[in-house]
Amino acid sequence: MPATKPVRSESKSTDAGKAAAFAELQRRVLACVQCAHLASARKTVVFGVGNIDSPLMFVGEAPGADEDEQGEPFVGKAGQLLTKIIETMGQSRADVYIANILKCRPDTPGQSAGNRKPTSDEMKTCIPYLHEQIDLIKPKVLVALGATAVDGLLGKTMGISKLRGNWQTYRGIPLMPTYHPAYLLRNQAMSEKRKVWEDMLQVMEKLEMNISDKQRKFFLKA
Ligand code: URA
Repeated sequence: MPATKPVRSESKSTDAGKAAAFAELQRRVLACVQCAHLASARKTVVFGVGNIDSPLMFVGEAPGADEDEQGEPFVGKAGQLLTKIIETMGQSRADVYIANILKCRPDTPGQSAGNRKPTSDEMKTCIPYLHEQIDLIKPKVLVALGATAVDGLLGKTMGISKLRGNWQTYRGIPLMPTYHPAYLLRNQAMSEKRKVWEDMLQVMEKLEMNISDKQRKFFLKA
């Protein structure tokens, strides 16, 4: 089994007990070998990154090759787009918390590239870690990026295009489903960008963030 590289991510909080609990959770996750096939294929465990005191938490699907390499969620092409979205909201990656349903990259045996969706068994095995992350962070708002994140957190499989833009609730926390940034890379239409942006405007409103006129108008036709 290849050694799992150490990852970048610390658990800083104004609450020392919370930081310690988060660090202990991270230690358990980094040592996890419950999915033996994923543990033997991974380079890193992609635990999560950001501010554990943040009111805003983003949840994606699973690490891809870039994330597996770097040990940090959303650092590849889709991740760069997510970073832009976060910055357009007036935040930085360090202000929010970002995690995935799966902490290991879904393996693709025999393929040198490409990704696959997590299986339902992998999701069932890994999701308790995300539940623990959310229980400790206690965000005021969750953003579920794409269908797998919505399925993992809410058990809803009716399709992201039906759910996006409509507030849901995860254990009492408002959850906004929206398209995964990888979808926006595949479909570059302004209308699809605007849909994600409208979802983020709803998130900003829920968090009582200041929204400028310029921000309100992004991706609208002149
Ligand atoms: N896609 C995801 O869902 N998560 C990542 O970390 C990267 C790409």
